[in-house]
Amino acid sequence: MEQELVNLQNQAKEQLATIENDGQLEEFRIRFLGRKSQFSSIMKGLAEVAKEDKPRLGQMANSIKKEIEALYDTKRQEISSNSSASSADNNGIDLTLPGRKPQTGKLHPVTQIMNEVCSIFESLGFSVAEGPDVEHDHYNFEALNIPAHHPARDMHDTFYVSDSILLRTHTSPMQARIMETRQPPLRVIAPGKVYRCDSDITHTPMFHQVEGFLVDRDVSFADLKGVLTIFTQKMFDRDLELRFRPSFFPFTEPSAEVDIACVMCGGSGCRVCKRTGWLEILGSGMIDPEVFKMVGYDPEVYSGFAFGLGIERIAMLKYGIDDIRLYYENDLRFLSQF
Ligand code: PHE
Repeated sequence: MEQELVNLQNQAKEQLATIENDGQLEEFRIRFLGRKSQFSSIMKGLAEVAKEDKPRLGQMANSIKKEIEALYDTKRQEISSNSSASSADNNGIDLTLPGRKPQTGKLHPVTQIMNEVCSIFESLGFSVAEGPDVEHDHYNFEALNIPAHHPARDMHDTFYVSDSILLRTHTSPMQARIMETRQPPLRVIAPGKVYRCDSDITHTPMFHQVEGFLVDRDVSFADLKGVLTIFTQKMFDRDLELRFRPSFFPFTEPSAEVDIACVMCGGSGCRVCKRTGWLEILGSGMIDPEVFKMVGYDPEVYSGFAFGLGIERIAMLKYGIDDIRLYYENDLRFLSQF
């Protein structure tokens, strides 16, 4: 009997070492520990052994049983912890990792500013009109009082498609296009791309402008000042001082370039405003009577103002960007900041 117990003990240890899953573990339990196990039948035999051997064999059987139970418990824990780890490995899923957010697309910063500019003017009663990027020399120059060989053509480094077709150098051709087809009163803004053969940290060959013009009876320079003051206040969310500097454009008379008090230093002078305290943001003026004549408006009856602002420039000032080329390098590290 002693031998039987020792054999059983060894068999149990051997089998336990080969167990890898719950099913095998259960077979083991039935075979060695259950009510109909080999162990139980040995224990039944205990009734027949000699009286003096009973205590010793009984003790031995008990301690072997305890040992097998303990081994069985350890194995069970081992298998259950393995199985949760391996099922995670198998699916390649670690439920404790934080989730990954999908990347969402956004409007380009230039488009955002363009929309903002348009909605400010729309709130002032302007309607939006769009025109072609590939333009006739006539609308880009002639109709705006810039005849061939006029020195003002030097201001524009023009991309020509043919002798009379070009990429528009400003959005001002929209003044002529709209006035030609509509009668005053007019309040229009024309956003879009413009092209000039120019490239450095403040110029790109393609950039965006918003043209604005208003034509009616008795329009004065004060109206231009009022509209632009409201616009800059809304655009930069504060009361910024404006400065109108006399300038020249063939299609406006008088003409002015408009500066705002530097948004970086508030006018005290810094690197961005080149120590002047002012930033130029647009060109403007009262529409020249010659332009009215060309579209068939009577300059004695109607007057109007026009302005053209550069969107990239405004976005640079608003966001503190110092190199205009960043807009067009498609670098997500830059673009996703807006
Ligand atoms: N078209 C001019 C430019 O591109 C700006 C401008 C628009 C000036 C309207 C006066 C009136 O520089």
